[in-house]
Amino acid sequence: MEKIVSLAKRRGFIFPSSEIYGGISSCWDYGPVGVELKNNIKRLWWKHMVEDRQNIVGLDSSIIMSPKVWEASGHLTAGFADSLVECKECNHRFRSDDLEEMGKTRCPDCNGELTETKQFNLMMKTFIGPVEDKSAATYLRAETCQGIYMNFNNSIDTMRMKIPFGIAQIGKSFRNEITPGNFVFRMREFEQMEMQFFIRPPHLIKAAKKKDKNVKDGAEWFEYWQEERLKWYKEMGVKEENLRLRDHGEDELAHYAKGARDIEYKFPFGFKELEGIHDRGDWDLSNHAKHSKQDLSVYDEESKEKFIPNIIETSAGADRSALVFMLDAYYEEEVKGEQRVVLKFDPRIAPFKVAVLPLMRKPELVAKAEEVFDLLRDKFITRYDETGSIGKRYRRQDEIGTPLALTIDYDSLDDKKVTVRDRDTMKQERVLISKLHKVLQEKLGVLV
Ligand code: GAP
Repeated sequence: MEKIVSLAKRRGFIFPSSEIYGGISSCWDYGPVGVELKNNIKRLWWKHMVEDRQNIVGLDSSIIMSPKVWEASGHLTAGFADSLVECKECNHRFRSDDLEEMGKTRCPDCNGELTETKQFNLMMKTFIGPVEDKSAATYLRAETCQGIYMNFNNSIDTMRMKIPFGIAQIGKSFRNEITPGNFVFRMREFEQMEMQFFIRPPHLIKAAKKKDKNVKDGAEWFEYWQEERLKWYKEMGVKEENLRLRDHGEDELAHYAKGARDIEYKFPFGFKELEGIHDRGDWDLSNHAKHSKQDLSVYDEESKEKFIPNIIETSAGADRSALVFMLDAYYEEEVKGEQRVVLKFDPRIAPFKVAVLPLMRKPELVAKAEEVFDLLRDKFITRYDETGSIGKRYRRQDEIGTPLALTIDYDSLDDKKVTVRDRDTMKQERVLISKLHKVLQEKLGVLV
């Protein structure tokens, strides 16, 4: 983990937030390389979950919503709280479940006595307008899906969606975590990629199944979405042996969930949640219908019945995914007696696909390299780099996981060829500039 944190800083993936003021606990900024990585993850997720499917639409709802949303959703009551204990000596705070996992009954930092367990609500409070009183109080959203429920009727009305269908969105969420940490694994401001899939309630599915056995029930949709999401990580290059599934026990379930299964990744600090698949039943829409006094039911053509849909949710973290892709792609190799660090990203995930490198910073080589850059930039996210020795530049591209590096040398001016170096094999071949598009396409595959 330390190596990844240091690489992330050194190579422009992730920086501590507000660093010149000493940083701020649990907040991180994505640098010039990291933002490309995270954008790729979000774009690929969006394609997989929205663009490739006829029954899912997208959304981008606001972070600040009416506080009534959080009353109805149960987040303001004990439901969305962590159990907290405080050390009576050093006043450090801990999550009770973390201490339980560590087998500690006293303070892990100073061995002091701990207080009784208290419930600590995780919602981040703020105020709208100039007066900071109770009527102006609201919250930064703690999960993006609540914005989806707010737009359930709007999405049906405008897109004429029919059950079963889904609404997806990517965006920031905020939680006042007691113990953030492990780099971007647990932050107070983070990004989620969530999809809510609306299905008929069990009694209507049962009736529909009698007529057509291909109709999926809640358990089958749950399995379907879990398999789809697990498959996605594997297809994007995450090693199968580092992924596993874990069902939540009754006592672990979130206040809204009837069932939950985590897709876990083998982080350096153990197997931990990367994404959750949740059976939310009709908790959300029923509560919002009750509190808002609005009709959030839909009409079932077959049974001629109105019903509140049940929800199967897929909820992934964009930041945890970025961390997973970096950890999983990290290799240290020995090349000619020297250590080489390389991130072997799938080309789709790689922040840059191609690096264009003039062998030396000589005007004629730079001009040719710029010509090659212009030729490629429309099709491939390309990085131009002319600073430092060619060896150092290869090392830099290896460390940010660029699959291909193109070198322009003096021969290129005569034979119109460039050297194409493969990140993983380090093999080099000469390719005609006029054939670059085709060769790169073959080597990189379909990128989006
Ligand atoms: N809507 C359901 C929901 O929010 P969750 O299990 O609390 O479920 C889903 O969160 C995902 O969001 C997690 O699997 C994780 O990837 C990400 N996540 C949650 N809290 C986080 C935090 N404090 N920092 C970074 N990512 C977080």
